[in-house]
Amino acid sequence: MRPTAIDALLQETRVFPPSEEFKKQANVNDPKIYEEAAQDYLAFWARCAEMLDWFEKWHTVLEWNPPYAKWFIGGKLNACYNCVDRHVKTWRRNKAALIWEGEPGGERVLTYSDLHREVQKFANVLKSLGVRKGDRVCIYMPLIPEVVIAMLACARIGAPHSVVFGGFSAEALADRINDAQAKVLITADGGYRRGSIVPLKRNADEALKNAPSIEKVVVYQRLGTDYNAPMTPGRDLWWHELMANAPLVCEPEPMDSEDLLYLLYTSGSTGKPKGIMHTTGGYMTGVTVTTKWVFDLKDEDVYWCTADVGWVTGHSYIVYGPLANGATCVIYEGAPDYPDRDRFWAIVEKYRVNILYTAPTAIRAFMKWGEQYPKKHDLSSLRLLGTVGEPINPEAWMWYHEHIGGGRCPIVDTWWQTETGAIMITPLPGIVATKPGSATRPFPGIFPEILDDAGNPVGIDRGGYLVITKPWPAMTRGLWGDPERFKQTYWSKYEGIYFTGDGARRDSDGYFWLLGRVDDVINVSGHRLSTMEVESALVDHPAVAEAAVIGVHHEIKGQGIAAFVIIKEGYTANESLKDALKQHVVQKIGAIARPDQIFFTADLPKTRSGKIMRRLLRDIAEGRALGDTTTLADPAVVQALKEKYEGQEE
Ligand code: WTA
Repeated sequence: MRPTAIDALLQETRVFPPSEEFKKQANVNDPKIYEEAAQDYLAFWARCAEMLDWFEKWHTVLEWNPPYAKWFIGGKLNACYNCVDRHVKTWRRNKAALIWEGEPGGERVLTYSDLHREVQKFANVLKSLGVRKGDRVCIYMPLIPEVVIAMLACARIGAPHSVVFGGFSAEALADRINDAQAKVLITADGGYRRGSIVPLKRNADEALKNAPSIEKVVVYQRLGTDYNAPMTPGRDLWWHELMANAPLVCEPEPMDSEDLLYLLYTSGSTGKPKGIMHTTGGYMTGVTVTTKWVFDLKDEDVYWCTADVGWVTGHSYIVYGPLANGATCVIYEGAPDYPDRDRFWAIVEKYRVNILYTAPTAIRAFMKWGEQYPKKHDLSSLRLLGTVGEPINPEAWMWYHEHIGGGRCPIVDTWWQTETGAIMITPLPGIVATKPGSATRPFPGIFPEILDDAGNPVGIDRGGYLVITKPWPAMTRGLWGDPERFKQTYWSKYEGIYFTGDGARRDSDGYFWLLGRVDDVINVSGHRLSTMEVESALVDHPAVAEAAVIGVHHEIKGQGIAAFVIIKEGYTANESLKDALKQHVVQKIGAIARPDQIFFTADLPKTRSGKIMRRLLRDIAEGRALGDTTTLADPAVVQALKEKYEGQEE
């Protein structure tokens, strides 16, 4: 935790209470909800679970054997049924479920009935390929309606999906397939991003050379016949051909509340990504109630979450939460600056979007591009704004408030994680006054605390470790195939208490201010990466002997990646080697992991026990005076490094 961040936030005194008008119409507007949930959180969550349709009701709300929780025990339900079938039985059957816009243009609208038909057919396709309840299915697709159809079809038949973000490399895809031992891969010939083609099928073919568990590959034709994606006979099958013959009806599988709904890989402090497990009843309860209350979602709203489904935000707040609520969701395939920097605002105007949920990194980019872009469009339909993924700086919050929200929209800054499944700290917009830069209060029924190293609460306005002291329904049930790492990562610092890996402080009003990660995880444009993952990719290059990677402050991305690299004898430290190393990381992990800066060095500052002192590397990369160097094995190393890079960005 950096004291500078705390000091800066302490000076924030602006407060934005909800307007009377907003309050009156809000889904929740009685502050008593907080007390009720605090008094009896099991009763509270049981009431939330009633928002879902259950085939069989649970007999016990919670069984808690730290770190393992079971929620709504004995309950049977199906996530797909809750997102689709139950709406088809009502007036919503002809309501738009998905409004999709492609990057190069093109628009498709799928009603709940359309979704019902497509999902059932695709579920039958999966069955015909031998997928059974419990089998893992990997999904590597662009943001098109079919990715949602594929996820829901998996949920319908009880096959946990593992969605891999389309920006990940072949190697990252292979790692994730292998860890999950997925049987089927669903992909597309390609997708569009910023005017170019993302060759998904080519990457998938590359990955499949080293991923023997995959028996069949279903390929959606997004680019069209001209593109000619290579198909391997016997293994690769076209989506449209399979769908042409698929039977129309597929009954949803009754799933136990604790049956696995999906796996989602995320980065931790070591190089190996971890498969976060989410089960059905608790997860669906968490995402359904938070979507309805945090976004104040109404049936007539047009809701747009700009994330990719490859991340948890897409899982919880594009797919499961909004669809369980019967919402109309906009999904957009591409980049915010294609063909021009007003694309988001053009979409808001075109579909009259009411609720917009995006990331601080996007807001900072919009800010930099200038207000003339949103000004070109009519944004008067917007009534609520959200942010997620990283701390939002007060200036970006204010810009969002004024230039996008027209000063009238509440902003919900939502803190949560892949592991937490659903939003944890957030304003309820009809109740809580917001402060720029603060995620404000815990959602009802959530119990965060801020502790020091010894496990004592730190007190008002002091930085400490953010933890959650009681279980909650959407919490992860563990890491796929690695219970030891699960205990070690989240449950070993404090007994029976969930350790988030984030720093935070709480002010005198009880508001939480998030201060960033306290571990070796970095947050680049709201994407989680481990410094070790990037280091391993660098060391994999033949020229590299050793590498140390750190997150450094970046104006737009929040954090950028800086790498200190020791090269081997026989290689020359020059610009072209820097470029080659950056490219190597892109190839190993994906473009999101491309280092912003590479510093060549002959040595790295280490403690006497051999630990790299990243704090000092950060001082150098950010051009600050060096902190305490007394524990270094050889203080001359860091001094030499500093002199070499003094004042220069790279
Ligand atoms: C960070 C994304 C501050 C945090 C949903 C967390 C945030 C990590 C916020 C999880 C926020 C997310 N304010 N920091 N509103 N939201 N974070 O798993 O460091 O991709 O631990 O989940 O993002 O990232 P993940």
